[in-house]
Amino acid sequence: MTPTEIAQIDQQHLWHPFTPNSLWLGPDHSPLSIASGEGAWLIASDGRRYLDGNSSIWTNLHGHAHPKINQAIKSQLDRIAHSSFLGLTHEPAVHLAQQLLRYTRLSSESPNLNRVFFSDDGSTAIEAGLKMILQSFAQNGQGQRTQFISPQGAYHGDTVGAMSLSHSPTFHHHFQPVLFPTQKVMTPACYRCPFNRAKPEQADARSYRKCNFECASMAEEAIEHAEDRLAAWVLEPRVQGAAGMVMHPHGYAKRTATAARKVGAKVFFDEVLTAFGRTGTSLASHAEEVTPDVLALAKGLTGGYLPLAATLTTEEIFQSFSGDINRTFFHGHSYTANPLGCSAASASLDLLESSEEIKKRERLVQNLSTLSSTFWKHPYVGDVRQEGAILAIELVADRATRTPFQSEKRLGANICHTARKFGLITRPIRDVLVLIPPYCTRPEELEKMVDALHQAIAQELGS
Ligand SMILES: Cc1ncc(COP(=O)(O)O)c(C=O)c1O
Repeated sequence: MTPTEIAQIDQQHLWHPFTPNSLWLGPDHSPLSIASGEGAWLIASDGRRYLDGNSSIWTNLHGHAHPKINQAIKSQLDRIAHSSFLGLTHEPAVHLAQQLLRYTRLSSESPNLNRVFFSDDGSTAIEAGLKMILQSFAQNGQGQRTQFISPQGAYHGDTVGAMSLSHSPTFHHHFQPVLFPTQKVMTPACYRCPFNRAKPEQADARSYRKCNFECASMAEEAIEHAEDRLAAWVLEPRVQGAAGMVMHPHGYAKRTATAARKVGAKVFFDEVLTAFGRTGTSLASHAEEVTPDVLALAKGLTGGYLPLAATLTTEEIFQSFSGDINRTFFHGHSYTANPLGCSAASASLDLLESSEEIKKRERLVQNLSTLSSTFWKHPYVGDVRQEGAILAIELVADRATRTPFQSEKRLGANICHTARKFGLITRPIRDVLVLIPPYCTRPEELEKMVDALHQAIAQELGS
């Protein structure tokens, strides 16, 4: 098919996620079709090359068409693509589970996660975790523990359970009548925090905040108040992705997890975005020195190659499903533990643990940090925040008052669209521009990504 045919048939028959019809089908829109990938590059059907500035929606870790991951998938494909995991097992899943339990262990002294439940994507990993927690409490004589608390803006996916744990009105308000009620606490977002008395500076707002850590105290209070009705404190540790790459003040996850444990509730961490080195450590929760009771992993699990997710939990939770047959976890999916996905994930974890790749990632994080300061030259930049290999640039109409641009301007979206002309593909969250480069991104490629964003900002805002 020619690029034009692909675009035409797409517009006639396909339906894309998180994509307004008015824009996708608009007269000026010509869908961009990606034909292949190579390292940090995406190559369009018409041959144009783009840097993958958001790691293909935060999934890709080591770059596209990595020979080791490709080979792992091909070798597995020659054996079998898929067999059921209901009542059967296979080596790729067993091997990956061992790797994951080692990789997610905080230290040899820390309590460990000991069970891995596979599913397909971030939403299903959350759904599984939520049901594990509820059923486990019910089977332990604590059926009254049905409450969940998470911060405002939390996003855990689009299935009904995951939407219920989220607090993302833009995405989920149509479904509110059928979601089960959960409680929210304020977002720990220093740049926009009503308790932060600091005047705006040209730095990450977390570094100059003046407050008494009210966000953590308020979450602790809500948790204490819920007492023995609380099932779990649910958190995207360190970075709330879809909320706008909101980066928490360090220590927030630890304080709130401690509060949850005090009232006997579970700590449920969603590291769908933050795991696998994205925030600088193996898991974001490692930096907070917390081992959750339930951990959701997806996106980068396969290095961004295949849909696979995992919900890890403790032996204690697992054992609460033992004994009577009615205690079985009646939950699962046809493609649970897909062997191709497991093989890709094992190859990705091998790469993550190789010292050469660790050095590469550290260099990338350092270069990203150096380049991040260049964004302050634009007068409409209000906050520049970074956590590991995630960089977020928040644009504001007025830097002194932190006044946002009118949402109808769709400024972030327009800038990212313009960035394509300069060879960069990325996606904003409202007016927060995001760079999440794959770890293989070379210094000169990273400079190109940053430069493309600068040019796009300048073109849209004349700065
Ligand atoms: C933190 C977090 N949890 C869960 C999800 C849902 O994952 P998926 O889109 O794979 O269902 C996302 C997706 O962006 C996410 O960022």
